[in-house]
Amino acid sequence: MGTYLTEWLQFAVRWLHVVTAIAWIGSSFYFIALDLGLRKQREPVPGVGGEAWQVHGGGFYHVQKYMVAPAHMPEELTWFKWESYATWLSGFALLFLVYYLGAELYLIDPERADLAPWSATAIGIAGLALGWIVYDFLCKSPLKSNDTALLAALFVYVVLASYIFSQLFSGRGAMLHTGAMIATIMTANVLMIIMPNQRIVVADLKAGRTPEARLGAEAKQRSLHNNYLTLPVVFLMLSNHYPLAFATEWNWAIAGLVLLMGAVIRHYFNTFHKTHRKLWWCWVVAGVLFAAVITLSGSPGWRAEAPVEGAAREWRKDPEVALAASPQFEEVQGILQSRCSMCHGREPLWPGIGHAPKAVYLETADDMIFHASQIATQAVRSHAMPPGNVTGLEPAEREVLAQWLGIG
Ligand code: HEC
Repeated sequence: MGTYLTEWLQFAVRWLHVVTAIAWIGSSFYFIALDLGLRKQREPVPGVGGEAWQVHGGGFYHVQKYMVAPAHMPEELTWFKWESYATWLSGFALLFLVYYLGAELYLIDPERADLAPWSATAIGIAGLALGWIVYDFLCKSPLKSNDTALLAALFVYVVLASYIFSQLFSGRGAMLHTGAMIATIMTANVLMIIMPNQRIVVADLKAGRTPEARLGAEAKQRSLHNNYLTLPVVFLMLSNHYPLAFATEWNWAIAGLVLLMGAVIRHYFNTFHKTHRKLWWCWVVAGVLFAAVITLSGSPGWRAEAPVEGAAREWRKDPEVALAASPQFEEVQGILQSRCSMCHGREPLWPGIGHAPKAVYLETADDMIFHASQIATQAVRSHAMPPGNVTGLEPAEREVLAQWLGIG
């Protein structure tokens, strides 16, 4: 019963997290596009720097941006902060449920670092906190006056953090913590810098004082970082569903390439919203970076696709027959039964696993043939399974699986 309820709880929290993230990213994309797309008005209004006309859902909207503030503060002001806070809170809850309560399966990889669940959890949480502290320190250092230098320093910093995570955690744990660290930075930017600065500006204006220009500039710089981090963070959050992205020793380098890819795609859209120019080269760069990600993802365990001659012909005709007739099949059954079926059984024996994960059964010969291509992705091309190699699948056994699958 316990595992069923936990699974539903995870689903509910994941649902919430995705919805809040859509709300946050959606409103953030909307405001960036709005801001960059503002045009000078035909009849200038005092204090207004630009305007936009928009049509949506059966109505016309006329938005005006006051460069500092309107002469009178309106009674009601809508703030945008809960989208961000709710995304972080639900994300942290999900991290806790999946990675900290399930540390042995998802977070710890004894081949990297043989941590106890509580220490892995403590390192994870400390990593998120430290991630923000170092970032904030960099932003307040002399680098702050040069946006490009600061962004370059931040890039090196995030890749380094990702490398450290990759030495401590499982591949998926490392990618997810890199994403969670970036997401923590983004939400902390809202909570600790953007909102407080905005509140001071509002209070100053109400009291008739001129707000410090520094407050606005600082908030704008953090907002720029959040803009460039949005796409990479979503990639990193999704990466744990794709072992080719995380279950390689190069996962930290993939995180770095994804940071660049996300930034260059945002640059395309930012420029387009501002000037309507289409910088096609951005897509070429993104494509090259993605190709580099795909190349790196095969390692280790990357194998030449070309199977042995005779077997190749058999495969093309009927992969299922080829698998069943393979001389390795008997050995393969023994391997999968001893290394996988305790979790992937109809009645799993592994404590805490109530039913076969993702309904992938690996008990009977038919099961194994049915899931052959998934076995290739999870246990041969990548080392995602068994999680943290808890059941001690030997390299020689992976080799047998590879030969059976025709990728040896
Ligand atoms: C200790 C338990 C455990 C063992 C042992 C184990 N798995 Fe898994 N397996 C899991 C869990 C948990 C998931 C779900 C992962 C997720 O949520 O992404 C999973 C998912 C999978 C999936 C589906 C992945 C997807 O996202 O579609 C495949 C295929 C798989 N395992 C294959 C294997 C193979 C092959 C072995 C043996 C070499 C193995 N597993 C051993 C726990 C285990």
